[in-house]
Amino acid sequence: MKNKKITRKITQGMYVLTTKNGGCIVDAVSQISAGDNPLISVAVMKTNYTNQLLKENDKFALSVLSMDVNPEIITTFGMNSMRDINKFETIKTTEVEGIKIIDESLGYMVCEKIDTIDNDTHTLFIGRLIEADLFEDKEAMSYGYYQENKNDLIKVTTEQGKTAWVCTICGYIYYGEELPENFICPKCGVDKSMFQKK
Ligand SMILES: Cc1cc2nc3c(=O)[nH]c(=O)nc-3n(C[C@H](O)[C@H](O)[C@H](O)COP(=O)(O)O)c2cc1C
Repeated sequence: MKNKKITRKITQGMYVLTTKNGGCIVDAVSQISAGDNPLISVAVMKTNYTNQLLKENDKFALSVLSMDVNPEIITTFGMNSMRDINKFETIKTTEVEGIKIIDESLGYMVCEKIDTIDNDTHTLFIGRLIEADLFEDKEAMSYGYYQENKNDLIKVTTEQGKTAWVCTICGYIYYGEELPENFICPKCGVDKSMFQKK
């Protein structure tokens, strides 16, 4: 492969994906049909707790994040697992169709799950849009913008005195002065070029 970085030019947004009892940050969202109730897909890593929850639940919601989103929303939902913390304790939400959506977002889409397709690392969840609202007609944050500005957006609390390397894709933290040669993120599988020193 000559340069895989071209895949970063695929335009994607920034969302909080929620379902009953959990949720996480996602960018891998697509609208895959048209009409009043279009189909929307979201790709979720099998290692995410949210994946487990989505397999058990029949609905999910996507809250759309704005350019001036509170970075705490990204760190809480994208750099932590519901296995370890209750993400809903610090971030304000409102229930729609039984699913928590993020108050501080541009709006939301609630989908009824109609299909799941597994590959080796991710599950593609496909849902039919059943409810949606637009709170504010402002510019949504793109994944490209996040990648360009992640230094300012990511606030990671590291163990005192230790050098940490943070995976900018999934938030996995490796403690150590240098990343080992040929290091691969154990959570999402990207190479060491995607890690940032903190
Ligand atoms: C900017 C950003 C984009 C992300 N995009 C995705 C994504 O598209 N799909 C996915 O499964 N995880 C994605 N993640 C990773 C999850 O949000 C992260 O692993 C989260 O901690 C999982 O939490 P959970 O274990 O509670 O499900 C992304 C994280 C960040 C910071």
